[in-house]
Amino acid sequence: MAGESNDALAATRVSEIKSRLTLPVIAAPMFLVSGPDLVIAACKAGVIGAFPTLNARPIEELERWFERIASELGAFTAGGGRPAPWAANLIVHGSNPRAGQDLEMTLRFRPEIVITALGTPAGVVEAVHAYGGLVFADVNSVFYAKKAAAAGADGLVLVSSGAGGHTGALTPFAFVPAVREFFSGPIVLGGGIANGRGVRAAEVLGADFAYLGTRFIATTESLAPAEYKQMLVESSEEDIILSAHFTGVPAHYLKPSIVKAGLDPGALGVRAEKKFDHREKTEETKAWRDIWAAGQGVRAIKRVQPAAELVRDLAAEYLAARSTP
Ligand SMILES: Cc1cc2nc3c(=O)[nH]c(=O)nc-3n(C[C@H](O)[C@H](O)[C@H](O)COP(=O)(O)O)c2cc1C
Repeated sequence: MAGESNDALAATRVSEIKSRLTLPVIAAPMFLVSGPDLVIAACKAGVIGAFPTLNARPIEELERWFERIASELGAFTAGGGRPAPWAANLIVHGSNPRAGQDLEMTLRFRPEIVITALGTPAGVVEAVHAYGGLVFADVNSVFYAKKAAAAGADGLVLVSSGAGGHTGALTPFAFVPAVREFFSGPIVLGGGIANGRGVRAAEVLGADFAYLGTRFIATTESLAPAEYKQMLVESSEEDIILSAHFTGVPAHYLKPSIVKAGLDPGALGVRAEKKFDHREKTEETKAWRDIWAAGQGVRAIKRVQPAAELVRDLAAEYLAARSTP
């Protein structure tokens, strides 16, 4: 019985959120890429905007980002209704020295959704629920999906194979049905989804939302350098390489950026120690600053465009896919 009422609650939350969206998409949070301009533009265009809190540094900057997002979106009404929700992404891995401070600041600004990554959501669920927020946990295996669901996550972000940055290894065709066996809450599917038809396909598989990262790097509002955006325009899936060299965990990068940094993409080793420490000037920060991540859907990027235009294009493709039998 309790399960049934939870299911009904989850379904109501999902449809309430979807009713505020142009299409069921989260502009995925990306280190050194997503900032307030992208979050605000994405939400105004009708998709869920998200950013890693670590992108704002020092911590005082995070307060300014939160203030700006909350005030611009608070004052904005999409077609007379509430705008799309925005999400803060917390890196809950033990090596993140700002985890505690960022959570505290997040709780002050109460984003509708908190997306946890690189660890268990257990430490944030209660506090986010206390103000009425939802916790979505980013997971890359069925094992971690089970753990996150047991820890009380409201939604699961399934990062499948082909994703930009740290990727999963499972095909979404196996991942979504495996998780649906034990989880009836909102599922977000990510990994190489780069057009509106892919968003529709995620729904057909049983997901509620699609998680698009790479496609949003090439927007005018993203914090990525112009050269990175141009490299995305010029790249295809053949330019994407999987490597655990930089962080100790398999991630997808743009091969040309590795060459540009003076390294041989064919001769990369595996980093022995996992490293998610985002403090300034660590090897990892350098990796994300100079070695650029992207997913297998990169071919879909034909130009750099404003986020609103990208969302319009995705929505047109999505609607066309929905009306095709
Ligand atoms: C440049 C880049 C940086 C990323 N940084 C983060 C991050 O800080 N936190 C996080 O949870 N996921 C991060 N991701 C993963 C994305 O949130 C998302 O899972 C992924 O982009 C989805 O796959 P796609 O790029 O093929 O669309 C990053 C991805 C990229 C491409």
